[in-house]
Amino acid sequence: MAMRENSLLRTPDFWHKENSKRCYEKAKEFLPGGVTANIKHFPPYPITMKRGEGAYIVDVDDNRYIDLLMGYGALALGHGHQKIKEAIEEQFQIDGTHLFGTPHEKEVSFAKRLQEHMPSLEKIRYTNSGTEATLLAVRLAYAYTGKKKIAKFEGHYHGGFEEVLYSITPTISEAGPGENPHPVPESSEIEAGTDEDTVILPFNQIEDCKNILRRYKDELAAVIVEPVQGGFIPASRSFMKQLREVTKELGIVLIFDEVKTGFRTGLQGAQGFYNIKPDLTALGKVIGGGFPFGVVGGKDEIMMESSPNKGKDLFDAQTAKQAANKSDVLFHSGTYNGHPMILAAGHATLDVLEHEYHDTEKRTNQFRKALEDMFSAYGYPMITVGTGTIFSVVLTEKERLINYRDFQKTNLQLRKQFDYCMLREGVYTKPLNRYSMATVHGDDVIESILQSTERVLQRGGLSPIRDKE
Ligand SMILES: Cc1ncc(COP(=O)(O)O)c(C=O)c1O
Repeated sequence: MAMRENSLLRTPDFWHKENSKRCYEKAKEFLPGGVTANIKHFPPYPITMKRGEGAYIVDVDDNRYIDLLMGYGALALGHGHQKIKEAIEEQFQIDGTHLFGTPHEKEVSFAKRLQEHMPSLEKIRYTNSGTEATLLAVRLAYAYTGKKKIAKFEGHYHGGFEEVLYSITPTISEAGPGENPHPVPESSEIEAGTDEDTVILPFNQIEDCKNILRRYKDELAAVIVEPVQGGFIPASRSFMKQLREVTKELGIVLIFDEVKTGFRTGLQGAQGFYNIKPDLTALGKVIGGGFPFGVVGGKDEIMMESSPNKGKDLFDAQTAKQAANKSDVLFHSGTYNGHPMILAAGHATLDVLEHEYHDTEKRTNQFRKALEDMFSAYGYPMITVGTGTIFSVVLTEKERLINYRDFQKTNLQLRKQFDYCMLREGVYTKPLNRYSMATVHGDDVIESILQSTERVLQRGGLSPIRDKE
């Protein structure tokens, strides 16, 4: 059914941010498209920020916003948290430098702490981003199984390397049948033939997944999954349980990509929430306290593929000889891996979250309920979809979403316009993005967002919204 004209749907005419515009024009002279990551762009031009504090950020035109993006979820404590500042300063003070390029005590203390939260992390490696973490996880699975294909889910994002750059945001016309989706490249220049090494699975459709996995079982090294798609559409418990069972049965490594859900879907991540033990886990965002960081952890025997001596004693001449064969060891290295100051920021983040996570989750749930009630009062069918401290506002008449195709049928256009209106009100998120709550989103901040929401909905009128057929 066609959508009726609605004032929320009009192109915003309020976009007068002189300095942001100037920054954008200047940036284009130096940076392709004026940005250093494509995700930072949105039309007519992105807003350039210059300061952040707690729940707030300020742009170069001196507009202040409540931040709901929170560095795409990385800032679980908000901006410039005192504990993070102190941890970094103290680490610098103690170490006298900010980089050794040698082992450091914090590498071990942080690994131990992560393992206490996620016991599936029997051994741990650090990386410099979530992308590096998922890349290492996939390569570990190749090395361990000797197989060369991976399976990923339609609509799931795992970073920017070839095997996973398929079917993140495919158009439905390209994406093939719902029960057996086609791999759709997400980027130019993906090597010809690579798509044959990436199998696409439909999320939350266990029987279809089982059929596909059985078909490719001899070639599949791993299934990589965002247990909560896009950080907000949760797998059903039964889906997750059966996915674990079938991958175990078929000898396929199960990788949980918890870059978004780690320390956001509870302090044990999605694996705690679902009570599932994946073979490998990739983490990022929150655990780096807002700094570039990633973690891969998992089963000892898989992780040991990357050990320089693969468990053998290098000082034993006999085994050292065997271990010297480089092709036996999965390459993993990095100048900045296990950066002491980032590990200090990670520790500080956990110090705070271990005390404040549950209150933040409680406030998130109250906020979600208040938003749903408000949208409903103004005649807009809307559900909030999420777990823990992340959720998205989804304009739909459905009661539940199960995957990417469901989400595409919701009223994304209206959601986008709502986001632009909220920007005008001083509530920041990248249009269409999920909301990532932080410990600093207290009751007063949430109340202020609700007031802004009410003003936007009042202006928007009461026209009914329909899902796409
Ligand atoms: C689930 C997931 N995996 C991997 C990544 C990549 O992480 P990074 O941006 O740190 O490379 C992201 C980033 O948003 C993510 O959400």
